[in-house]
Amino acid sequence: MDRTFLMIKPDGVQRGLIGEVIARLEAKGLKMAAGKFEMLPEERVMKHYAEHAEKPFFPGLKSYIMSGPCFLMVFEGKDVVAVTRKMIGSTNPAEAEPGTIRGDLAMEIGMNVIHGSDSNETAKREIGIHFRPEEIISYERADEKYLY
Ligand code: PPS
Repeated sequence: MDRTFLMIKPDGVQRGLIGEVIARLEAKGLKMAAGKFEMLPEERVMKHYAEHAEKPFFPGLKSYIMSGPCFLMVFEGKDVVAVTRKMIGSTNPAEAEPGTIRGDLAMEIGMNVIHGSDSNETAKREIGIHFRPEEIISYERADEKYLY
């Protein structure tokens, strides 16, 4: 089954949106395979956002992402990367469609509630940065036979 890395960012945590976001993902039919609540260490922030390190917004992004706890997850499901990107919506919440997480729950690009991997390759890389293999659990969810 395909996997993706999802992270509820500090604004989502502080606004009490962890449950709302997970409820949307679970109700869609996606399955959580790993989850943990933590302050991201600088070393992992630098690895995760390496491709943005030279961008003008990076210092602000880095201090924001390290400003409070995040909720990190691995989710599984058919085409989970594409499905979750669609559910998350555009990076800029002002442009995100209503019905998407950012479209419904956020106002501006600096605090857009959630991060989701943008390709299967990125998902593999990001899962490897944040989770050890033994933290990811394979199991069959009771409703799976009604989804696929
Ligand atoms: S880019 O330049 O198009 O590749 O960047 P983009 O993919 O749109 O965004 C990459 C991540 O940087 C975050 N971002 C910002 N954070 C704070 N302030 C500003 N201005 C800003 N612009 C982009 C954006 O939310 C993306 O974060 P993730 O966690 O990957 O969703």
